[in-house]
Formats: sequence, C-alpha cells, structure tokens
Amino acid sequence: MAIQRVSSKWAKTNVLLRNRQVARYIPITLKYSRAALGEMLDQRSLVYIKPDIGTYGNGVMCVERLHEVKKNIEQDAPDSISEHYRLHYVTSSEDYHSLNDLHGAIRSRTQQKTYLLQHGISKLKYRNRSFDLRVLTQKNPSGNWETTGIIGRVAAKNKIITNYHSGGSIQMLDEVLKEHASQEQINELEKELYNLGEKTAQQLQKDYPRLKEIGLDIALDTDLYPWILEVNTLPAIFPFKKFFKDKSVYRRIERYAIAYGRITVPAKAGRSKSKA
Ligand SMILES: Nc1ncnc2c1ncn2[C@@H]1O[C@H](COP(=O)(O)OP(=O)(O)O)[C@@H](O)[C@H]1O
Ligand SMILES: [Mg+2]
Repeated sequence: MAIQRVSSKWAKTNVLLRNRQVARYIPITLKYSRAALGEMLDQRSLVYIKPDIGTYGNGVMCVERLHEVKKNIEQDAPDSISEHYRLHYVTSSEDYHSLNDLHGAIRSRTQQKTYLLQHGISKLKYRNRSFDLRVLTQKNPSGNWETTGIIGRVAAKNKIITNYHSGGSIQMLDEVLKEHASQEQINELEKELYNLGEKTAQQLQKDYPRLKEIGLDIALDTDLYPWILEVNTLPAIFPFKKFFKDKSVYRRIERYAIAYGRITVPAKAGRSKSKA
C-alpha cells in the first residue's frame, strides 16, 4: 500500500494537540480570520500566516506589531505611542496602521483559501540569518519509529522563511548551535529532538496508519526551546546525503527508505518530489 501523505497542516496539528507530551511543543495555531488575527496580535508581537496546504514556504507571511514613540513637543504633555503593523512577505514588507487595512492586505493575497495563524517564534540566528531545524524520523525495518537525522536550515539573508527552495542553506546541527549553547546543551537538545520526532510520529500514526516517514520543522527560541512549526509527510532526504560527513547516517536513511518503498534506486529518485 502507498505511503501515506497528509497535506493539511490544520488536520495534522489537531491530531498532535491530542497528545499532551507533543502539544507543549506546538505554538498556538488558529484558522485565519480577521477576529483571530486581532486576538493573536493582542497577545503577540510576531504572528505567522501560512496556507493550510502549501509547500516550500510559498504564501508564508508574518506580521510584526511595532511601537513608535512620538515625542510631544509641548512641555509636560506625555509622549504618544503609536502602534502599527509590518506585514512581511518572503523578502519585502509593508506597514499598516489599522487592523482593517492589514487584514485587507492579507486577504488580497490569500483570496478565499484556508490560511493558518501561528504564534511567531523569534528564531535563533546563525551568522545573522535565522535558522530552524529539520528532524527526520522514519519507520525502521523492525517496525519502530526512529529518528535518523537532524540538520540546520539557514534562511537566505533577510528572509522570513528558511526553506531550501527559497535560497536557504543547510548546516550541521552543532555548527548552527555552537554560538548559542555548550556541547553538553547541544547533546541534551539533540536527545530531546530525537524523542520528539518519535513521539510525534507515534501520535500521527494513530490517525494516519500508513505513514512511514516524517520531517519536523523545528524553530528554537532564544531559550533554546524547540517549537514544532509543521510536520511534513514527504520529507526531503537528499540534504542528509549531501551534508553529512559521516556517510553511515545517510546509508541508514536510505536503507530504511528502500525498505518501506520510498526509493528503489539509491538516492536521486527522492529529490524532485521532496520538500525541503
Ligand atoms: N510560527 C512560526 N514562527 C517562526 N517562523 C515560522 C513559523 N511558521 C513558519 N515559519 C517559517 O516559515 C517556514 C515555512 O513554514 P512551514 O510551516 O514550514 O510551511 P511550508 O510547508 O511552506 O514549508 C518555516 O520553515 C520557518 O522558517
Ligand atoms: Mg516547512
């Protein structure tokens, strides 16, 4: 039977929220509406907006709520604070002074499609570029879920997304983390992410029994807390071939992928269809 793929982020999020151990890693996520936008922007100064069904970072936007302090020229009168919103597309941005105008601009981009709103995570930086992590978890030939690799995905300069298809680059986990954490902390986090990948797969499997592989997009906040941004059911495997010096990492990934029928010939086959 074919390997299961699930495209709706909303559907997958709701399955994961039913598991308390996984739910604590998921940023609050709502279906997009003007009311939900207002509500989320009341609580947070960074909010992401993304298509329910989308890949490669297409259609992803974010809104920053900004304060501007205007000095009052009249003596003794208090300074006034004005708030506005900055709507970022992948590389450009526009400012709006009311929620209505902001919503109008977003709606003109999203049309009537289902979009999601998510608490924005202020991602850590590597050489001044945001990065997140990709955790690959596969069904092994003994029938257990096993995390088989983690890589860092670094955004292209000034981009709000880290997808490889949007000019991002791949780095090793230790490399992206070395300026933020000790080796001991990195090892701890790695262990936590290995577990999280496996727990996430087990939970999704309850509703999607024919899943064989998943790729978690994980953003680390400034406390190194790992947030699950999305779970891909057709994860790219080529980055693990290209970037791991330790060839045994990719050999295992490939062996598992062959065992469950993702690829029949070594590597390249996965490339054109994969999501990075
Ligand atoms: N809540 C969020 N906070 C911070 N960055 C985010 C958030 N959601 C998405 N991103 C950024 O946008 C990228 C693409 O979003 P994602 O949900 O993975 O959609 P896609 O399916 O298009 O890859 C992520 O890899 C990440 O860099
Ligand atoms: Mg993604």
